Amino acid sequence: AQDNLSVDQRLLKICETLEANISYYNWVGFYFKNGDKDELKLGPYVGEPTDHIIIPFGKGICGQVAISNQNFVVPDVTAQDNYIACSITVKAEIVIPIFLNNENVGQIDIDSNTPDPFTEADERFLEFVCKEVSSLLK
Ligand code: SME
Repeated sequence: AQDNLSVDQRLLKICETLEANISYYNWVGFYFKNGDKDELKLGPYVGEPTDHIIIPFGKGICGQVAISNQNFVVPDVTAQDNYIACSITVKAEIVIPIFLNNENVGQIDIDSNTPDPFTEADERFLEFVCKEVSSLLK
């Protein structure tokens, strides 16, 4: 049955599984490079609906990761100047890039309602998830 799922359905299942199993993952979603434009487009996600469907490269935590190609862990979102607020309940955020053929093609974005919850274990785990996602995209 798994074989009949589309890529987006599989990505949504990943979001659902992460949100349901890790108490401090409260909004879990994917952003992908929007064609050949210098912007990200929201993909599958779980959590509160967001107005930020399109994010220009450089804007917010997500837009910065699109350019830096690096993990971005934000223990306290109120301490960030270049931050796009989606919900007043969010205290912290982690964004991990997804690489396909060495190219930064998107990212997983996780918001937490818990202050400073993300550790290096989250980074290693989410890097693994992003590698799995990359192979789904091939
Ligand atoms: N906070 C993100 C925007 C996306 S929302 O978290 C869903 C940012 O600053 O890029």
